[in-house]
This record gives sequence, structure tokens and C-alpha cells, in this order.
Amino acid sequence: MLREELLRGDLTVDGLEKRVTKLRIVPVVVLEDANDALPLCDALMAGGLPIAEVTFRTEAAAEAIALIRKERSDILVGAGTVLTSEHVFRAADVGAAFVVTPGFNPKVVSAAFECGLSIIPGVNSPTQVEMAMASGCRLLKFFPAAASGGLAMLKALSGPYKDVRFVPTGGVNPENLAEYLSLDNVAACGGSWMVEKELIADKDFESVVKLVCQATEIVRTVPLPPNS
Ligand code: 3PG
Repeated sequence: MLREELLRGDLTVDGLEKRVTKLRIVPVVVLEDANDALPLCDALMAGGLPIAEVTFRTEAAAEAIALIRKERSDILVGAGTVLTSEHVFRAADVGAAFVVTPGFNPKVVSAAFECGLSIIPGVNSPTQVEMAMASGCRLLKFFPAAASGGLAMLKALSGPYKDVRFVPTGGVNPENLAEYLSLDNVAACGGSWMVEKELIADKDFESVVKLVCQATEIVRTVPLPPNS
């Protein structure tokens, strides 16, 4: 099958930004067993969060993404921890709707554009923001958020960089989620706190639903960013 046939036609970079900005949270998932993918998606849906970034940190990730794409078409599924062009091609082959990288790698960005995949590249400095902008990206993962200056750094970046939106990830939790989401240059927050590896290993999807509900309730208390 051609890669193009696997892509979600409407998911341009703008389309991805709109969806992510509407949902406001990107759960970062590590799946050791692809069989956990569908119950996990059902828990995310039950909590009102139809999106998952399945990280390429396990052997099961590609199979899990393919399964989600086939069986749970309501979930916007992306591939995370994408480190190489090969990862990008693999993500496209299994039907990922988007890819997320922890750092900024121009080769990986080109590979994503080559196969028509929207990409949220990771940055944590002004230099990297400018490199990302120069490569045509404006929705950027801010990673690792807490360790890179958190809210203060995002506020500082909002001065010179009016046209980019961030997805802070790394150290986001229910205590600071609303503060991050209140920043005008934050489209959404990424995080693993709702979908901890241990909960998935224990098949404790009820707790996942509760944590996702808690997160979506917090989201409802925060106004959407301007022009979203
Ligand atoms: C990531 O993989 O993007 C981050 O490690 C998630 O960070 P968190 O576990 O602090 O949410």
C-alpha cells in the first residue's frame, strides 16, 4: 500500500494544530504489549481525550499504532520518540497521523514532510525554535519542559516568537497543567501522568479513566488560547 493511502488526508500541519489545541492534552504512552492498545484507547475515549502519542520506545509501538488506526478510528494516534528518518517511515507505514520528536533534527523533519506526515518537533532553546521555524514548523514540543525552565521559559519565548505554539512535555502534572495551558503560546500539554506504565502493566484502565477525567476537567477551567 502506498504511504499516501495511509495518511489522514485532512491532517495538515494546521489541521493537527487545530485538533491538538482543541484537545489540549497529548497523552504520552509507552506500550510494552500491543494488546493493551485498544483498552487504553477506550479509557482515553471514556475520559474524553481521543488522542495518543505512542512512543517508539518499545517493540510493541508500531503494532499498537497500526491496531489503533484499524480498530479505533476515532482516536488521533501519533508516533512519539521519533529519533530517525527510519522511525518516520515506520510511523507512516503503520498509519500514524503525526509524529513527535524529543529534539530538533532537520533530517527527521524532512523525512516527515517527504511522507506527508505532520510533525511536532522538540525544542528547548531560542536557537532550536528558529531552526524549527526555518524548516516550516510552528507547532513545537517544548521538552523537557520543567527541566528547561518551564513556565518562565515559555513566557520568555513568547516575546520574540509570536507565530509558534508549544506543547510543553516533561514534568507536566495535574498541579501545574492549568498554569501551562493558561499561557497564550501553549497549544496543549503532553504528559504520561494519566497513562503511567505501571497502570497499563496492571491493566488498571479504570484508574486511567479517572486520571483522564481529572485532566479534562482541569482543561475545562482554562480558556482556549487566542485565535484557536
Ligand atoms: C515524554 O516522553 O515526552 C516525556 O518523558 C513525558 O514526560 P512526563 O513523563 O514527565 O509526563
